[in-house]
Amino acid sequence: MREISLHILDLVENSIAAGASLVSIEVDENSATDRLVVTVADNGQGMDEEYAKKVLDPFVTSRTTRRVGLGLPLVRAATERCAGELTLETARGQGTVVRATFQRSHIDRPPLGDIRSTLLALIIGRSDVDILYVHRVDAREFTLDTREIKQTLGDVSLTDPSVISWLKEYLDQDLKEVA
Ligand SMILES: Nc1ncnc2c1ncn2[C@@H]1O[C@H](COP(=O)(O)OP(=O)(O)OP(=O)(O)O)[C@@H](O)[C@H]1O
Ligand SMILES: [Mg+2]
Repeated sequence: MREISLHILDLVENSIAAGASLVSIEVDENSATDRLVVTVADNGQGMDEEYAKKVLDPFVTSRTTRRVGLGLPLVRAATERCAGELTLETARGQGTVVRATFQRSHIDRPPLGDIRSTLLALIIGRSDVDILYVHRVDAREFTLDTREIKQTLGDVSLTDPSVISWLKEYLDQDLKEVA
């Protein structure tokens, strides 16, 4: 079973491949509705309607190294195993919003996995792309916005070792309090 953090990584990789400069990731866990909703929204090139209908089936891909695309079909299958669904809102030139909904308590619901490492890898590996991460569990909320961090840092790079240690600590302590 693929962990949710790895599905998130797949979705963000799609956004980056679509030329996004800002990717917003939201994980919303709600015990009252028993839903866990992952939303990945980007300002990349988007898809036209006809193509967007097709990409939820395996085998549709714009990649050239192999002829099957698996990211979206795998996330979709994971949601459907858990009484949930995958929805896609997109338009050519307008960016894309992918929303994956799971029944939170479902026996097959994948664990969140290592969100901290996923975020760190993205932030450090692709410091040219801005990431907004919001994680909500009922009334608790954790937010990380690389645009704000970059503004605070001024000339110091996000990949500076001291910034990386700070990021690790922030993710370890503050995210742990929420999720
Ligand atoms: N956020 C997005 N913006 C624009 N196009 C997208 C986005 N996400 C997916 N697509 C399009 O849908 C296709 C299928 O995506 P999917 O993740 O299923 O497979 P892939 O990315 O091609 O391959 P894989 O994920 O297996 O490496 C992509 O090739 C791309 O053309
Ligand atoms: Mg993909």
